[in-house]
Amino acid sequence: MQMLNTTSLNLKENRLWILDQQALPQEKCWLPCDSVDELVGHIRALRVRGAPLIGLSASLLLALLAERGLSPAELEQALLTLRASRPTAVNLMNNLDRMKQALAQPDWVTAMATEALRLVEEDRALCDRIADHGAERVLPGSRLLTHCNTGGLATAGIGTAIGVLLRAHQQGKVTQVWVDETRPLLQGGRLTAWELGELGIPYQLICDSMAASLMAAGKVDAVWVGADRIAANGDVANKIGTYSLAVLAHYHRIPFYVAAPHTTHDQHCPNGAAIPIEQRAVAEVTGVAGSFGSCQWAPIDAPVYNPAFDVTPAALISGWVLDCGVISPQQVADGIFQQALR
Ligand code: MRU
Repeated sequence: MQMLNTTSLNLKENRLWILDQQALPQEKCWLPCDSVDELVGHIRALRVRGAPLIGLSASLLLALLAERGLSPAELEQALLTLRASRPTAVNLMNNLDRMKQALAQPDWVTAMATEALRLVEEDRALCDRIADHGAERVLPGSRLLTHCNTGGLATAGIGTAIGVLLRAHQQGKVTQVWVDETRPLLQGGRLTAWELGELGIPYQLICDSMAASLMAAGKVDAVWVGADRIAANGDVANKIGTYSLAVLAHYHRIPFYVAAPHTTHDQHCPNGAAIPIEQRAVAEVTGVAGSFGSCQWAPIDAPVYNPAFDVTPAALISGWVLDCGVISPQQVADGIFQQALR
């Protein structure tokens, strides 16, 4: 397959390389990935993460495995294994559906390579269109709050919510970004802080619990987040802590925007209650571990609840900023959300 470079996925010498997002920002470490088991391990450990990127990494690996001679039956099994690697982000399932169609073609090796590279190019273009639409909603002098990481690390392009922040910053409209650290795995503190620094966007890092007082003090003009799955009624699953921000924004009458590509929409999922929410390991809450070291502060046997995502009801969302345009709450209430997505 041809060479490919994105912020966190590379193809070179017919190998898939991933930028280890658990090692960032202390270390910039590229890991080769040659098998389904390896990729599933990387995805589960969040070395590869972000809804669009998970789907793209799985598609590229499948295309490479097809070129290396795996049989259609083996590829079919690989598809199923990858599909089960993380349950919430629907981009993975949507991308794998497209790869499955390519696998059904007579020349499936070429078809899978073409499709995987097309998915990457499409994602880049989707990010650009989201940024164009989103930046129109950003007022000059804005102080914007974001959660988790939705940038070039999480997509093949400039990102979703971070793509909007970047475009608005390029238009001179962003005074500063408040970055939620995003417990338990600190995607905000480790990844978004690093990305915004690289992009030259002014930011201040905060603990998740600080958002309320900032809003009360009138220091947040809008909240911008990404999505892992958008249900047919507009409910949105995203990184745990997103729902709290939406409630806070509603109380303080601050706009709350969700930026995502249409590949994050699940037309088969009627509402947020039907979105599967991944439960993760106890150790993520009882302490921290990473390239910075590890530490456990809770009692060794502390019972833990650790959902990776929560669901924000459509009623709390000011706009769904997609590649095809901005969908308003009125459009969602009128039931035209699905039509607008097509
Ligand atoms: O668990 P993660 O780090 O994969 O969660 C990521 C998020 O929740 C993002 O907001 C979402 O995937 C959108 S990324 C463009």
